[in-house]
Amino acid sequence: MNRKYRKTVIAGNWKMNMLASTVKPFMEELKANMPKVRPCEVVLCAPAVIVPTLLKAGKDCKVAAGAQDVSKYEKGAYTGEVSASQLADIGVKYCIVGHSERREYHGEDDMLVNAKAKALLEKGIVPIICVGESLEQREKDLTLEYIAYQIKAALNGIDATQVRRCVIAYEPIWAIGTGRTASAQQAQEVCEHIRAVIRGIYGARPARAVSILYGGSMNAKNAAELLAMPDIDGGLIGGASLKPVDFAAIVAATDQE
Ligand code: PGA
Repeated sequence: MNRKYRKTVIAGNWKMNMLASTVKPFMEELKANMPKVRPCEVVLCAPAVIVPTLLKAGKDCKVAAGAQDVSKYEKGAYTGEVSASQLADIGVKYCIVGHSERREYHGEDDMLVNAKAKALLEKGIVPIICVGESLEQREKDLTLEYIAYQIKAALNGIDATQVRRCVIAYEPIWAIGTGRTASAQQAQEVCEHIRAVIRGIYGARPARAVSILYGGSMNAKNAAELLAMPDIDGGLIGGASLKPVDFAAIVAATDQE
């Protein structure tokens, strides 16, 4: 983490879990376990239908509500889609785009991820742009090259002022939901590389202002070591964000110098 230049962000990704009716007890338990000192922004990204409940329940606990996906279209005949203005209108501050599960199961490509990020920025919502390599790419030593490609594609046409508001999440696919976390060194190497790619496009100042998160089996035990790395500015947390005590412990792990 480097708090001098950028925000630390702990974002939970509930995926297709939780019910609106379980949000309140969840938030009560989270509040009871949340550390008093909290030098980070705390976000929970919920399924769209649960976001309004989360917005209400999160206020008391100072937890921002995020969404997990958005349409690239502004409005109109797109059955099933949710637009950036609809999210902004109810007070959504963050939205995940390009999660590997959406890329894999819903055929999202880099151009679509880019369009979604732009749609969000236009409405003042912070896109949490996910990138990450497969195990095969890592084994073939293609990680850095592939990540650079994904970052460039996702940020295409986004200007230097807008990029400062973006959050990038490095999520190696082989580490998601597998219990196989990247080592702090592996994660730092890629996050540092992501910053270098952003520096190459926009220059030093925007690059040092972008928060870069690590995601992939981050938990209460390994969070502190990952967060101690200079280019890891937080986490995108799946499984452990469903357990209030564990999620609160990850938030507490940001309290380090
Ligand atoms: P995980 O998921 O923490 O359960 O590995 C992370 C993510 O997919 O965002």
